[in-house]
Amino acid sequence: MKRIAFAAVVAAFGLAPVSFPATAADNATYESAKVCAKCHDQEGDSWATTVHAKAFDLLKPQVRPDAKIKAKLDPAKDYTQDTVCLSCHTTGYGEPGGYSPAMPPVQAKALAGVGCESCHGAGSEYKKEHGDAETKFKRGGEATRRMDLVKAGQNFDYEKACLKCHNAPASPFNALLDPKYAFDFAAAVHSSGKGKAIHDHFKLMGVFSGDPIPALREELQKNAIESGQ
Ligand code: HEC
Ligand code: HEC
Ligand code: HEC
Ligand code: HEC
Repeated sequence: MKRIAFAAVVAAFGLAPVSFPATAADNATYESAKVCAKCHDQEGDSWATTVHAKAFDLLKPQVRPDAKIKAKLDPAKDYTQDTVCLSCHTTGYGEPGGYSPAMPPVQAKALAGVGCESCHGAGSEYKKEHGDAETKFKRGGEATRRMDLVKAGQNFDYEKACLKCHNAPASPFNALLDPKYAFDFAAAVHSSGKGKAIHDHFKLMGVFSGDPIPALREELQKNAIESGQ
């Protein structure tokens, strides 16, 4: 919106057009779960046991044949190169640093499935803030504002992230096919642990403070596992 308003000003007053400096969030690229798990090893280990971590495998031939037939997909077909499917079964497909079938296999493997950044946002910029903030916090106990993370591209609107894939019209498995695919965020976000949707939750130290605090933070943190750091 700001850009449009500025263009109107340029048109009205004939100012020389200047480009806005790109924000950190604009520059954010996908990193892969491996990078996040270097620091968040507990969330990383737990995430690896969730259905999201394994979502890429659903595109392989003969995986969930009955569901595919019901959705008029070919159970014998290999959908692992299908650009439509890749957008919801990989991390950041089609975006800078995101999954691409043309990537070297090691890199592609790290971005296959629904990774950390599918929910938390592309991480190249905010991961730096995480490390720096921890150093600052441990030195002086001073918390960094969560708003700085948002500026660096971190997402705290989890429901919005889920809805990019869940019950989206582009998904062959939405509520039109079967009401069981309808998406209830409040219920779905509580599905965590092995074989479920979200990683287990671990207690935070409080390195970050202030808005936006996710509505469910308090509840999930109350029941979170001691991280033993
Ligand atoms: C817009 C996002 C989106 C697209 C595009 C998409 N999927 Fe999915 N897919 C999902 C979601 C979300 C689920 C989980 C639905 C649920 O269980 O509620 C899912 C589930 C599945 C399942 C498991 C269904 C079951 O009941 O066991 C298979 C298999 C699958 N997708 C294959 C594909 C294939 C093949 C394509 C491409 C032709 C594709 N998907 C495209 C989002 C998508
Ligand atoms: C399907 C979505 C989803 C994926 C994938 C995901 N997370 Fe989360 N994550 C959440 C939600 C929801 C919360 C709870 C809200 C909050 O406290 O911020 C959360 C919370 C967290 C927290 C706060 C502490 C905690 O344990 O609750 C950290 C750290 C975190 N995630 C890291 C990761 C890392 C690292 C990965 C990948 C290895 C990852 N997440 C993958 C949705 C996701
Ligand atoms: C990039 C796409 C994507 C995003 C983002 C995403 N999911 Fe999923 N989700 C999937 C796919 C694909 C599956 C199918 C996994 C399977 O059937 O094995 C799935 C499966 C699930 C399931 C298990 C199936 C079911 O309906 O019981 C739950 C629960 C779920 N997701 C919740 C969430 C929540 C909550 C969020 C947001 C915090 C989220 N998902 C974000 C793609 C996504
Ligand atoms: C250099 C280490 C490091 C890396 C890499 C890193 N983080 Fe963090 N992250 C931290 C620390 C430290 C905190 C603060 C934890 C606390 O308060 O206990 C944090 C906090 C978080 C939180 C909670 C923020 C809040 O609201 O308080 C989430 C979610 C998270 N990280 C996700 C990720 C994801 C996703 C990635 C990968 C893109 C990532 N982190 C990469 C160190 C890191």
